[in-house]
Amino acid sequence: MFSFFRSSPPESMQVNEIAISLENKETILAAALRNGINFPYSCKVGGCAECKCRLTRGKIKALTDASYLLSAEEVQTGYILACQSVPKTADVTIEVDLSRARNRLVRGKVIAQEKLTHDIVSIDLELDETVIFKAGQYAKLSLENLPNVTRAYSFASKPSADSSKVRFFIRHVPGGIFSTHIYEEDLLDVGVEVEAPFGEFYLRDSNKPMLLIAGGSGLAPIISILEQAKEDRCERPVTVLLGARAQADIYCQQEIQKIAQDWPAAFEFKQILSEESNETSWQGLRGYIGDHLQTFATDNHQVYLCGPPLMIDNCIEKLSLIGISAAEMFADRFVSNSQ
Ligand code: FES
Repeated sequence: MFSFFRSSPPESMQVNEIAISLENKETILAAALRNGINFPYSCKVGGCAECKCRLTRGKIKALTDASYLLSAEEVQTGYILACQSVPKTADVTIEVDLSRARNRLVRGKVIAQEKLTHDIVSIDLELDETVIFKAGQYAKLSLENLPNVTRAYSFASKPSADSSKVRFFIRHVPGGIFSTHIYEEDLLDVGVEVEAPFGEFYLRDSNKPMLLIAGGSGLAPIISILEQAKEDRCERPVTVLLGARAQADIYCQQEIQKIAQDWPAAFEFKQILSEESNETSWQGLRGYIGDHLQTFATDNHQVYLCGPPLMIDNCIEKLSLIGISAAEMFADRFVSNSQ
């Protein structure tokens, strides 16, 4: 069979100095989207030039002649079409203006709905096409049977190239139109719209041990980040702290234990309960997460915090005293919408 690779195909490339993985004969656009980069594109078939980018190093195989779409000057200065370019060498590096990328609105339907606790519901969506996001980011959701209401929720699943299935955790806010609707109505097969990606909460490159702190439904982006990190063969030690009121508020223990299985470094998951009765059998930690940071955090940790703003601000104050700089702390503040 014809092959344009003389040696083994490249397994990675650089997009704006970010290394991304490559699959066999994958186009630059497909690889960028699969790696969660919100890359500008439209047609994907070499007809619009929305995906144009500049090749600054390496060699590519052009699947179509881009000179019909690009100006002579663009071709001379190295512009190519990402959707029509397959890297041939291991040093392929491109520059692209990512600000041209739009957030995309993808339609789909609810395929599963499950109560995780007395006030947190998980919904699984099947979308008409793959939605692009980085693990940890959030989307704006709307439901066809609740017109003119849109709410932001973090993805609770990692991005995936071969699947358009995504998951969200919704905490019921008393009086909240959207969360009450999800909490009370049977939404199976109800149409949805997902606009994404949004937010700057995602895992940064580092060798530092990770401290992941979640309160309320804040485990959603933490699970997304951990699932992606496991797939990327991350070898950093992990500590996950979940703050909850009582045992009834603990969720996703099995999911986190599954991620912890075979994790190549230390992995611990602790729940800290603030209102658990002394009469119960609970043997674990009590109080607030901030009360226990001296035990779990060192000045070498990189920290990701997600949940209620009060919890996050309290933890950041304590983590700063431990010696963790603001540059090593990343927060996603969940603000309840009771309208
Ligand atoms: S996305 Fe249209 S030419 Fe590449």
